Amino acid sequence: MGSVITGSGIAVPPHLVTNHDLARIMDTSDDWIRSRTGVAQRRFVEPGVGSSDLAIQAGLAALADAGLDPGELDLVVTATMTPDVQAPGIVGKVQHGLGAGAVAGFDLRQQCSGFLYGLDLADAWLTSGRGKRAIVIGAEVHAGYLPWGETWPIVLGAPGEKADPEAYARNTAHRAWSVLFGDGAGAMVLEASDAPGGVLGSRLRTAGELSDLIRVPGVGFSRRPYIDAEQLDDDDHLPVMDGGGLYKNAVRLMPEVVLEVLEQCDLTASDVDLVVAHQANERILAGVRKQLGTDAATVPSNIAEWGNTTAGTLPILFHELRQEGRVEPGMLVCFVAFGAGAHWGAVLYRVPD
Ligand code: ACO
Repeated sequence: MGSVITGSGIAVPPHLVTNHDLARIMDTSDDWIRSRTGVAQRRFVEPGVGSSDLAIQAGLAALADAGLDPGELDLVVTATMTPDVQAPGIVGKVQHGLGAGAVAGFDLRQQCSGFLYGLDLADAWLTSGRGKRAIVIGAEVHAGYLPWGETWPIVLGAPGEKADPEAYARNTAHRAWSVLFGDGAGAMVLEASDAPGGVLGSRLRTAGELSDLIRVPGVGFSRRPYIDAEQLDDDDHLPVMDGGGLYKNAVRLMPEVVLEVLEQCDLTASDVDLVVAHQANERILAGVRKQLGTDAATVPSNIAEWGNTTAGTLPILFHELRQEGRVEPGMLVCFVAFGAGAHWGAVLYRVPD
């Protein structure tokens, strides 16, 4: 018994923000962001919209694409690092919003690798006979992390307004990470199948010694109380990122794990038709291409349009590639991600005929 992807879908948040918009509220430029990251624009939800809302939207689209009724699902897996509330996670809301029955639901929080871990979990569930149909959804609303406060209306296009110097300075202090992220969600439906192909293998990795590369230091339960005004004043609720450290590890570990999963399946890099890689930075993708000896047709990118949507990147990219007709029967696809935790890994998939 194996598992195959039978549907995909995405949710597209309404507010499109370009690099030029960001340059109105901080010391940055379209040229800097494009050349260092590859990002040209990103999308944001309305306040009040959570990652569960995007997840439901993407999930319903994927179910429709698969021709499945939500009541036929046996498993719902959601991955997000931006849940609607501190607790519980979003999977209950998503299961209910999709109209699935009282099925098993997992909340995963492997950040950029969350969807990949979900793919592996769903495949393990389906191939072990625990269920027949699963949905895996990666969804993020990063807008809540962004420290833009009263400058949000300017970013969203309020004509003629300028950021006051204090807000401009604060936004600039957070520019290295804040320009990277966007909101978005993607979903895949997986079904148990005896047909040849489907998920062939996976390698998942975790290394806690790399957990300082990107993290949110405050608003956690090693503190009493877990949130207070001091943490907020110190911006401890916002991400802290070692961009260079992330870059170096991502460029090394993603190709390495791709080669490991290929070897596990008696395949080589030249067998791979598509590498659907986490979209954190175009320069990281260029490094992955170089290490694997391949090109942008094999390791495609959509970071220019979306920015980094963390758990959303893999299913959004895969859905777009399917829509463009670039995922063909018989192709060998490798999903690969690296991110906060640090968690990384690769899942190898043969598109069924
Ligand atoms: N606009 C203009 N200038 C900026 C900006 C900005 N948005 N951000 C930083 N700079 C400045 C810095 O202050 C620095 O200035 P200085 O030389 O005067 O000190 C200069 O640009 C160079 O900064 P670096 O940090 O050396 O720039 P680098 O080329 O390394 O790019 C970046 C930084 C884009 C963050 C890169 O390291 C990167 O993308 N790393 C990977 C990040 C990543 O993968 N993040 C997410 C993974 S985890 C997850 O997805 C949840």
